[in-house]
Amino acid sequence: MSQQNIQSVVIIGAGNVAWHVARKLDEAGIHILQIVSRSLSSSKPLADAVHAQYAGNLHSVNRNADAYIISVSDDAISKVIRDVEFDDHIAIHTAGSVTVEVFQPFARHYGILYPLQTFTKGRDVEFREVPFLIEASDPDTLSGIRKLAGLLSDHVVETSDMERCRIHLAAVFACNFTNHMFAVAEMILKQAGLSYELLKPLMRETLKKAMEGSPADVQTGPAIRGNFEVMDRHIAMLERDPELQELYRLISKNIASAEKKTKH
Ligand SMILES: NC(=O)c1ccc[n+]([C@@H]2O[C@H](COP(=O)([O-])OP(=O)(O)OC[C@H]3O[C@@H](n4cnc5c(N)ncnc54)[C@H](OP(=O)(O)O)[C@@H]3O)[C@@H](O)[C@H]2O)c1
Repeated sequence: MSQQNIQSVVIIGAGNVAWHVARKLDEAGIHILQIVSRSLSSSKPLADAVHAQYAGNLHSVNRNADAYIISVSDDAISKVIRDVEFDDHIAIHTAGSVTVEVFQPFARHYGILYPLQTFTKGRDVEFREVPFLIEASDPDTLSGIRKLAGLLSDHVVETSDMERCRIHLAAVFACNFTNHMFAVAEMILKQAGLSYELLKPLMRETLKKAMEGSPADVQTGPAIRGNFEVMDRHIAMLERDPELQELYRLISKNIASAEKKTKH
């Protein structure tokens, strides 16, 4: 087979990413041969949606696909790679922080197709604007993965392991930690019977400002103003949750020291 021309795939995993990638590849004319997960309750509905076969274990993986897209939880990627025979076919994973070494010595042609976006099953995403970070074992495989990614997005970027892991680290701060802060804010209001809706204009404007320029230039709040009285009061209000108190202190300290670094 030619690694440059991927026309059929098996998708291993039926979670958030697989749910999106399978549908978009199907729409783009790629033949999805099979969806494989640990349980038929997740593989079957996705397989039905993309007219594919399904399996609930790795022993029944279809051996005829041009490429195998492994979109399972990060900790399970190496086990899946060990358990599937890829022969000359391409093995691909979709993780931000799992390096290409995970494929060695189990696959001859392999690569990474990491979509830099947060995915939830059933929630539409503007795919063509999602950056897809790619890497591969050899030029032909890279070309095949680039073409596949190009069917999904207008932003396909070749990155090294080191660059991708760094981008993933930044993404954890920009997305996962930020979302957790929103969840904490919601909880603080809910505990007092107050509406989370009140915060939404503030959340929108925060995001807008951070997108329009450098977020470091538009930081506001008691930590950057050095308003210790207010900060002490906030910490006292969190007395029932020592972990949140610690988080409040740490983030405030980091905001203050980041401000000092930019001034010097
Ligand atoms: N979610 C995101 O926003 C996002 C964004 C970019 C990249 N990624 C990456 O994409 C990958 C998948 O993430 P996800 O969020 O889609 O995960 P997820 O929603 O947790 O789904 C994981 C899927 O993997 C299957 N699975 C786990 N262990 C398996 C095994 N040993 N054999 C076969 N299937 C197995 C699960 O099967 P069951 O359904 O049977 O439990 C499930 O369908 C990860 O590497 C992640 O880092 C995620």
